[in-house]
Amino acid sequence: MTSPTLRFDGKVVVITGAGGGLGRVYAKFFASSGASVVVNDLGKAPADNTEGTTQLAADVVVDEIRRQGGTAVANYDTVENGDRIVQCAVENFGRLDVLINNAGILRDRGFSRMSDADWDAVLRVHVYGAYKTTQAAWKVFRKQKYGRIIMTSSAAGVYGNVGQANYGAAKLALVGFSNTLAKEGAKYNIYCNTIAPFAASKMTESVMPPELLKLLKPELVAPVVGFLTHESCQENGGLFEVAGGYVAKVRWERSQGHVFKTDDSFTPAAVHAQWKAVTDFSQSNFPETITEVDWIQQLERSKHLTTNAAGEPLRFDGKVV
Ligand code: NAI
Repeated sequence: MTSPTLRFDGKVVVITGAGGGLGRVYAKFFASSGASVVVNDLGKAPADNTEGTTQLAADVVVDEIRRQGGTAVANYDTVENGDRIVQCAVENFGRLDVLINNAGILRDRGFSRMSDADWDAVLRVHVYGAYKTTQAAWKVFRKQKYGRIIMTSSAAGVYGNVGQANYGAAKLALVGFSNTLAKEGAKYNIYCNTIAPFAASKMTESVMPPELLKLLKPELVAPVVGFLTHESCQENGGLFEVAGGYVAKVRWERSQGHVFKTDDSFTPAAVHAQWKAVTDFSQSNFPETITEVDWIQQLERSKHLTTNAAGEPLRFDGKVV
């Protein structure tokens, strides 16, 4: 059975960093699906992209979209002025429905040699840039009670990667950012999901082997972004790895844990003795909210910890943890 085509007719989509790589592919995908697109990028087009062009990257993508009959405008602001990017969407198309936070840079360096400038540049673009753009979009989304947001994380943030302390910190920050927006936005029909993609692009051409890059076409990420940002999609607050046609959801897993006595016996040696139990995932759980605090139930079950000096039970009812 084939599913109906998920179209974006009448929708307005902002894609940051859409002058190349993944963003360019998303822009073309949304335009060909009926959306009006704001192609944001502050960069110049690579010289090999057109005949010795000095054109801006966003203009090249807008031209490509228009030649194929689509609707797009270029925007050249840095995401650090993300409010101007959103303003561009509203001025040109009267609304905004989908925001793809995609712009990114690398300043890879071993941590001992990482400078403040390396750290700040990466955090500014990925985290502050996504914050500025999303906050401006949020105001529009709240008013119209509709919005779809994508954050772009990375396996380097989720798992860590040598030489990418700045990038890893920024990319995992976006997961925390997205998790909170998903919870704040749900009642306004604003959903936010995060992808950790792998794709051949300017960013990865020098860091991945060419045979692998051939498999990782950026076009193979766009269908997931398209699904997650469609009106019909109910996914919210998810994190997905997407690469070369592979799509998987990633979630937190917490071990059952161990409750220690809170008297003098709670020493590093006692922790050592129970370390196997602390790190045993055989009876794990998968918390999705801050209130799924398994340890409260464990404390409640563990009588010696849940009675006061008078032997009365300590309760946690009505408490927010
Ligand atoms: P890319 O380097 O091809 O494209 C990024 C675009 O962002 C560039 O066109 C650049 O001019 C633009 N940009 C940079 N700073 C900007 C700013 N301040 N304001 C507006 N635009 C800005 O990179 P690629 O590979 O397409 O990456 C897209 C996103 O996916 C990035 O956030 C990246 O960190 C993330 N990502 C990519 C992976 C991959 O395998 N390609 C892996 C994991 C994450």
